[in-house]
Amino acid sequence: MKVVLLENIHPLAAEAFRRAGFEVDARPGSLSEHELSDVLQGVSLLGIRSNTTITRNVLEAGKDLLAVGCFCIGTNQVDLGDAAERGVAVFNAPFSNTRSVVELVLAEILALARRLPEKTQRMHDGVWDKSAKGSHEVRGRTLGIVGYGNIGTQLSNVAEAVGLRVLFYDTADRLAHGNARRVGTLDELLAQSDVVSLHVDGRPGNAGLFGADQFALMKPRSIFINASRGMVVDDAALRANILSGHLAGAAIDVFPIEPKAQGDPFESPLRGLDNVILTPHVGGSTQEAQEEIGHFVANKLLGFVTAGGTALSVNLPEVAPPSPPAAFRLGYLHDNVPGVLASINQLFADAGANVVGQSLSTRGERGYVVTDTDVAPSDAALAALRQSPQTVWLRSWRG
Ligand SMILES: NC(=O)c1ccc[n+]([C@@H]2O[C@H](COP(=O)([O-])OP(=O)(O)OC[C@H]3O[C@@H](n4cnc5c(N)ncnc54)[C@H](O)[C@@H]3O)[C@@H](O)[C@H]2O)c1
Repeated sequence: MKVVLLENIHPLAAEAFRRAGFEVDARPGSLSEHELSDVLQGVSLLGIRSNTTITRNVLEAGKDLLAVGCFCIGTNQVDLGDAAERGVAVFNAPFSNTRSVVELVLAEILALARRLPEKTQRMHDGVWDKSAKGSHEVRGRTLGIVGYGNIGTQLSNVAEAVGLRVLFYDTADRLAHGNARRVGTLDELLAQSDVVSLHVDGRPGNAGLFGADQFALMKPRSIFINASRGMVVDDAALRANILSGHLAGAAIDVFPIEPKAQGDPFESPLRGLDNVILTPHVGGSTQEAQEEIGHFVANKLLGFVTAGGTALSVNLPEVAPPSPPAAFRLGYLHDNVPGVLASINQLFADAGANVVGQSLSTRGERGYVVTDTDVAPSDAALAALRQSPQTVWLRSWRG
């Protein structure tokens, strides 16, 4: 099998594919739709990052493509619906940069509490301003985390390690880590926190979640951090609260409108403010995160081709069968219509095969069932199933 890896994907991924016996074509840049169509002949797996667009035409040209791995977080660059229709699985790495975001936020909490952005700026301006005014230890102070998911919970753990007391507010039922304490409302969290850090997801209802009313409820001289989504915060209201002195500082990594290309100008009402750290959406951008992404997505692709696993696929039904397969494994992607499971089980019954494990999942128009049996059905029976109108594809593995 052949895999093409574009856009300088971490070498760990190429190594994993070579170890698994794949022929690897690794390239530094992205390819256009036209170039991709040429390259994809005979290619089973394609690895991309955010600069390669996988359109309907590319998928049409990639007749042998089984799966696309997005070695990044986002998957907007892939026509996910068309890929699902053709049975091409798409994977990404949604959690691989969690730790990187957490470390950036922790660094910002410490830096803002000591007013480091202001102090370093003054030194560069040639001003020696030695004073403890406005500088604080974080030990014993309260961090309020809004959104207690992957990032929020990990921040909770590392923040406690430096002596912060942690409160959190989440709309979903989340288990408290360590000594963190859940509060029932956002207002309650804002009233008690010395630092408020946003880690909510990008659901449409979160647009404008944080504006003048929420800043007004924060404690005087508290610190505000947003490394979640730009659209969540009203930056003009944040500017007003920094200028009035109500907030002692802020760190912002994400913006409602972000420049598209490297070197493009950056406009924001937050530019030029004292004790405000601005970073160009780099919360998750570290060498370690890239390495973790390379490892994670390569493993997802290999698990899919060697054992039929679709767990964490962003477009196909998710099934996580045990690895390695039993004596015989059938992976069957089909239209999500009634009666499919019964017909598969009849096929195994006719073959005198005992089903030792079976997992089924559906997603929109598609259903996926993975069945492990002690003996294989005949080639003729499998060929008949392949011809059935509800079949998208079937693949088999022998343990
Ligand atoms: N700055 C970066 O480079 C960077 C990198 C990775 C992720 N992110 C962003 O960080 C955010 C968090 O990521 P994650 O992986 O922890 O997501 P997640 O889905 O694991 O967690 C989000 C949590 O927010 C909660 N939530 C949603 N809306 C809420 C609301 N209005 N009030 C309270 N809680 C709410 C959800 O219930 C969930 O528990 C996402 O927006 C993600 O896009 C940014």
